[in-house]
Amino acid sequence: MNSTKVAIVGLGTVGSGVAEILLNHADRVARHAGSQVDLAHVVVRDKSKPLRAEVPASIVTESLEDVIADTDVKVVAQLIGGIEPARSIMLKLLEGGKDVVTANKALLAEHGAELFSKAREVGRSIAFEASVAGGIPIIANISQCLSANQITSLRGILNGTSNFIVSQMEELGKDYAEALKEAQDLGYAEADPAMDVDGSDAAQKLAILAHLAFGADVDWNEIPREGIASLEIVDMQCAAELGFRIKLLAVASMSNEQLELHVSPTLVKRGTPLAEVRAAFNAVSVEGDAVGPVFYQGQGAGQMPTASAVAADLIDTVVGRASITFKATELWSDGKPRIQLGDPKQSRSRYYLRVIVRDRPGVLAELASVLGKHDVSIASMIQKAAEGSQQGPKPSSDGGSTPVVSLIIMTHEALAGSMAKAIGEIDELDAVTGPSVRMRVM
Ligand code: NAP
Ligand code: HSE
Repeated sequence: MNSTKVAIVGLGTVGSGVAEILLNHADRVARHAGSQVDLAHVVVRDKSKPLRAEVPASIVTESLEDVIADTDVKVVAQLIGGIEPARSIMLKLLEGGKDVVTANKALLAEHGAELFSKAREVGRSIAFEASVAGGIPIIANISQCLSANQITSLRGILNGTSNFIVSQMEELGKDYAEALKEAQDLGYAEADPAMDVDGSDAAQKLAILAHLAFGADVDWNEIPREGIASLEIVDMQCAAELGFRIKLLAVASMSNEQLELHVSPTLVKRGTPLAEVRAAFNAVSVEGDAVGPVFYQGQGAGQMPTASAVAADLIDTVVGRASITFKATELWSDGKPRIQLGDPKQSRSRYYLRVIVRDRPGVLAELASVLGKHDVSIASMIQKAAEGSQQGPKPSSDGGSTPVVSLIIMTHEALAGSMAKAIGEIDELDAVTGPSVRMRVM
């Protein structure tokens, strides 16, 4: 049987999982690749540190040059996170004649155009299945299996760390910091987890999916996003009473020839597929004009699910499939964006509001009046004692002696811009004791 040499740069959570598959399941890999796949080099930053996988010492190096100089190495899995040195390393690998596989969505979202243009210039390919939704083959599905469709909407849980944290808080009552620490220990979080929890990681993945599904060359920084860091258990409890769970949803949908994108904590009806996606699982619900609705679910973060996607890309590249699909993809090509991005203020949604107010006559009328003024219609409302909220009261004209209650309001569909204005005004009311909570309802 022929043999193809490959290399790994970065032996962290994902890199060590890929090494394990290549070394421990060489027969399976060879069968699918049609060639023996030999792991010839593993580039680490510091050889003196204990290795995270049982890799023969003879193939471990601190020098990228060892990989580039080895002309028998055809494909390299670049598994360093962040932007630099990942970007420079990827450019060097491409210039050195290597096809590259990567899981680094931050790098693609930020420098995809440069990297893809370099790959096209030098006749190499980039495969990136692991960059979105970990082990779910969503890139292949959108770019190949659903290519006969115009995709009309895409809703996803795209960050495993956030979904893990939200699930732990909701199901086990864990606090946010404890759940985040556990997600880090389990290898789900990025080296700096800030982008996991503030919606940026999901926005980067959404930008890649939107690019594939709608041909929209989106700057991920422009995607309106909110994260889960300020999520309170009291809102999860209120959502549960109303029959919902809170999920960090990434949404891309077409309306009136315009594409609307956002990432935000969203109330999702219990019992519907997205609401039941727990732990570090991810899911993507896609609507295509021919196929209708399709739902994908699987482990979106973690060592082996992600390694599964990287190893499959390595096999695809060795077989030659990756170079064919890479040539066909319009991702980060020179063409103009085919889709106009809609104005985020014009996006419509139902909303959940939690407003903490002093329980005195006329408060409801004041709130209803502000909402009405901004064309926000109330669908239902519950009044509750405000225990459990972490929001501190602001001083009031009555010296703060009036009891405080939470008003939980569900609205009919409203414009995001109108809702933002209404909340701004509501929070200025004397009867309101702190910033109100506002979340979309799917
Ligand atoms: P990680 O555990 O931090 O691993 C990154 C590895 O790269 C570390 O071992 C690091 O070495 C090494 N490294 C950094 N700079 C290097 C250099 N110049 N030369 C050689 N090695 C270098 O991160 P990870 O979780 O495996 O993630 C890797 C990539 O996959 C990221 O882009 C991430 O976003 C993506 N991803 C991760 C997951 C997941 O669940 N973890 C899922 C999907 C995608 P040191 O230990 O010495 O710093
Ligand atoms: N940190 C990422 C997450 C890894 O939690 O989803 C997968 O991209």
